[in-house]
Parts: sequence; structure tokens; C-alpha cells
Amino acid sequence: MAMVCLSDFEAYAKKYLPKMAWDFFAAGADDCSTRDENILAYKRICFRPRMLRDVSRMDIRTKLLGTEISFPVGIAPTGFHQLAWPDGEKSTARAAKAMNTCYIASTYSTCTLEEISAAAPGGLRWFQLYIHRNRALSQHLVQRAEALGFQGLVLTADLPYTGKRRDDVRNGFRLPPHMKLKNLEEAFEVCKMSPSFHSLPWHLPHETKTTGLDPSVTWNDIYWLRSLTHLPIIIKGILTKEDAELAVRHGVQGIVVSNHGGRQLDGGPATIDALVEVVEAVQGRVEVYVDGGIRKGSDVLKALALGAKCVFIGRPALWGLAYK
Ligand code: FNR
Repeated sequence: MAMVCLSDFEAYAKKYLPKMAWDFFAAGADDCSTRDENILAYKRICFRPRMLRDVSRMDIRTKLLGTEISFPVGIAPTGFHQLAWPDGEKSTARAAKAMNTCYIASTYSTCTLEEISAAAPGGLRWFQLYIHRNRALSQHLVQRAEALGFQGLVLTADLPYTGKRRDDVRNGFRLPPHMKLKNLEEAFEVCKMSPSFHSLPWHLPHETKTTGLDPSVTWNDIYWLRSLTHLPIIIKGILTKEDAELAVRHGVQGIVVSNHGGRQLDGGPATIDALVEVVEAVQGRVEVYVDGGIRKGSDVLKALALGAKCVFIGRPALWGLAYK
């Protein structure tokens, strides 16, 4: 069958992925209303199409913090890519490089940062960080990413605790034994910690108290990150003008308007609706991006028209990865 739109890849992934993996990728928090709202909100926005504007030449290149990408769609950080394809994040990195766009590699990658870098040398990559209770471990990851040539540090702010994803709970979701969160494992070794003591997140995805992530993170931790790295800091998970203002005041270089694909707080706004107040609040002082529910070229255009510099896609990249 010809694959003509992202929904075709979604249907393929649903058909061929093991149920536990599909459910994990698809999951939203609680009854998934925010996850679904991300998509519905785009359908409510209409263009005011203008005519006779000479569109014989089109250029959709843009720059992310000064680095050119060939079109304004990057790959959002998602964990556990080996659930979709054996090569996991290495394949994602190759695809992003082939398309000359940005790939944000997750803390919860199933390939090491070194493997990801080696798979696509010279590609534009940012590293996404969850701050761990053991700060030495997070420091190690940040500095390792910088040394490997990652060009941005994305701090995810919306996961102090993991949302309750019902199907994951029902399925007893856990990574197959041959898959590892390799970056964390290596960091545990370097920091001489026992991974079993800090039991990793596949045990109980709805209870972050077992993951070792630090729920006490505050805005002051941006200063701590700043002291560790020269990389630009991008904060992901901002949904209000108040937090956008705080982000600018704390010196970040970019904001990703995101609700984690509706996997965290159910009942918050669709990201495209939140984008408007964030863009207004920052007044061009930092770059603003958005993710969540982007499934068509016209969704990208709507986000750009409302002030996003670039959009990021999460689940669609995983569906693509699952396609043989
Ligand atoms: C995510 N997301 C995410 N975000 C993050 O900062 N670190 C992570 O490790 C993950 N992991 C993750 C796994 C899966 C399976 C999904 C679906 C999402 C959130 C992700 O970066 C992004 O915000 C959403 O996926 C965007 O929504 P769409 O494009 O999936 O609708």
C-alpha cells in the first residue's frame, strides 16, 4: 500500500508493533483528553488564504539557534526507540541527518549518546535531560553530550512525576530484557550507583518515585545547569505566559511549548492554543517551538503563523521508525 500521510504510518505501526510497544507510544495520561485535544485544536483553526502572491519559488529552510535546517520540523525526544526498530535511536539520528533537521535525543534512549553520534556524524542534535536526584549523574550526562558535539540542552520541565498511562499499567509495561537505558546505565557506573537501587522507570511507569528523577527541581536549577555547560538551554514543557516570562528571566535560549504529547497532566491546554500566549509573552527574546498533535503540513503552517520558529514531532517519528 502506498504510504501517503502520517496516518498511514500510524495504522501500519498499530498493526505491526507488539501491543505493549504500541500502547506505550500511544499512551496519554488518564483519559487522554489532552492528548486528543492537541490534535482537535488544529482542526478548529482555519486559514485566511490569500491569493496571487507569486509562490513559484518557495524556501522552507529555517535556523534553530543559528543552525540551518532544511524545513521547520524537528524530531522531539522520545524514549525507547528500540521498541520500534532494532537499531533504535541510531536509525532516528540517521534519518534526521538525511533530512537535515534537528533530532533531540532523550535521556531514555536505548542507544548510547556515543552510538547516536557515530551513526550520523555532523547531524544537528540536542540532548534532552531529565534531572536525576543524583545530580552527579545528570552532570555527567550533560557534559558527555557536550563533549560529543550535541549542540543544545533541552531540559524537560513537565515530568516531576510520571502521568498515569492506563494501558501501560494494565499491560505491566516494562522494557524487554535485551533493551537497556544505556546512557543511564553507564552514568550509574561512572557515578558508582546501583541501578537496581534506583530502579529504572520501566518498573512502574505511573510512579516516578521509583525512577530516580528529582521532583524538587525549580527555576534555580537552570542556573545550576548553566554552570555545567556552554550549550544553549532550551526548556520543554512550558504552557503559560507566566512560565514563559520566568524562562526568559532565567536565561534560557529557547522554549518548547509542550504538554508531553498529553502523557503527563490531563486537562491542560492543547499546545497550539498555549503557543499564542507564550509567543506574546516572550516578544522575540528567545526562540519558541511547539510540539504535540502535529500530523500534517497544514498543522506546521498554522504553528508557524502563530509564532513558532519550528515544530517537533514525537509519535510520528516512532511510527516511521517502525515501518519496514
Ligand atoms: C515522549 N515525550 C518525551 N519527552 C521528553 O522530554 N523526554 C522523553 O523521553 C519523552 N519520551 C516520550 C516517549 C513517547 C513514546 C512519547 C509519545 C512522547 C514527549 C515528546 O517529546 C513530545 O513532547 C510529544 O511526543 C509530542 O506530541 P506528539 O507529536 O507525539 O503528538
